[in-house]
Amino acid sequence: MTTTESAATDENILRAAIAAELDRTRRRSLALTDSVDDAELTRQHSPLMSPLVWDLAHVGNQEELWLVRDVGGLVPLRSDIDELYDAFRHARADRPALPLLNPAEAREYVRGVREKTLDVLDRTPLRGRRLVDEGFAFGMIIQHEQQHDETMLATHQLRRGEPVLHAPAAPPSIAPPSAREVLVPGGPFTMGTDAEPWALDNERPARTVHVDAFHLDTAPVTNAAYAEFIAAGGYDRREWWTEEGWAHRQRAELRAPLFWTRDSDGTWWRRRFGVTEPVPADEPVVHVCLHEAQAYARSVGRRLPTEAEWEKAARHDPATGRSRRHPWGDAAPTERHANLGQRHLTPAPVGAYPLGATPAGVHQLVGDVWEWTSSAFTGHPGFAAFPYREYSEVFLDGGYQVLRGGSFGTDPSMARASFRNWDLPIRRQIFAGFRCARDATRAERT
Ligand SMILES: [Fe+2]
Repeated sequence: MTTTESAATDENILRAAIAAELDRTRRRSLALTDSVDDAELTRQHSPLMSPLVWDLAHVGNQEELWLVRDVGGLVPLRSDIDELYDAFRHARADRPALPLLNPAEAREYVRGVREKTLDVLDRTPLRGRRLVDEGFAFGMIIQHEQQHDETMLATHQLRRGEPVLHAPAAPPSIAPPSAREVLVPGGPFTMGTDAEPWALDNERPARTVHVDAFHLDTAPVTNAAYAEFIAAGGYDRREWWTEEGWAHRQRAELRAPLFWTRDSDGTWWRRRFGVTEPVPADEPVVHVCLHEAQAYARSVGRRLPTEAEWEKAARHDPATGRSRRHPWGDAAPTERHANLGQRHLTPAPVGAYPLGATPAGVHQLVGDVWEWTSSAFTGHPGFAAFPYREYSEVFLDGGYQVLRGGSFGTDPSMARASFRNWDLPIRRQIFAGFRCARDATRAERT
């Protein structure tokens, strides 16, 4: 084969992979919206969330804007609805009152957009123009839809009523970490990426960051450990909370993670996608806000890791000095590496994914629960918005906190360990937990 022929073959392989990812993603969006009736699709289940039918048409509208109109240069299918589905024009709480497409119209709209997208994919060179190089714009839209799928999953969790989502139980613990924490030696590592073709603007550029030696927990904090914090009076011990955290704890009357209730004999129960069940002891705690995570950490004499510490523990390979894609290496995640992609409807117990651990023995950094870090969401030095300011730039330095690692509801297309998520410190409806860290002693630093 000549070089030109082999480049064409590579491009066709990439095209087929993109088409498969678009389809896989759409099947998830449709499963999340076909599982409830029209009344539930158009209802607002929480003022924090959009009606599910808004999310569905919005992913179609973003796909139309970027792939059909910008990449494909085609005429709009429905420019009349752009304004309704612009997330910056209407707060989530106001969306139910908009003249939205009804469920049948929304399904027809996303199907029509997808037909055009596949035509565009067929005829677009995936090299050259930065927006489409290595299929970036398609990858961006796939990840955007997957992010809304996780948001829709959170809406399902907030919804009241009989269970409508079903999935096999997460795997059991087979090899819990052998130590509580590991010492991550001090030194430089490469944070962020220039090499990942589908990395988003906020992960770029790659740069060298020095991180002092620190200890990191080998597992996220479990429900059992969190219940001990509650039993020790965690929600009443002012000294364990930051000033901002305590003010919020008072105002919001926080007493336990969201969705937890306690019965008269002191057993903790949780509501999970319409099922009420005892809180499982060895799963990572989920549905806590940053302030609760920080209070817990202080109660055990620890702190949250910074974002740089988290990423170094997840990516830095001391043997080669390289930063890898995932805690276990560069290989794509399989169902034996991490609990991702809504394959299960809970975090998995600690010790369920020994294959996904780092060489140093840190487990479950990716999957299960998003992990709060102590870092505010800011741009890496050299950050440049691409391809639009509203993806990340408008959120930088806006009071948002970084979360890392992805949850059981996060798609593998975002499982690279450079991926950054952010939310407000008070948010609890997201699938967020945490793990703790502490400074190394002076002797351990040298
Ligand atoms: Fe969006």
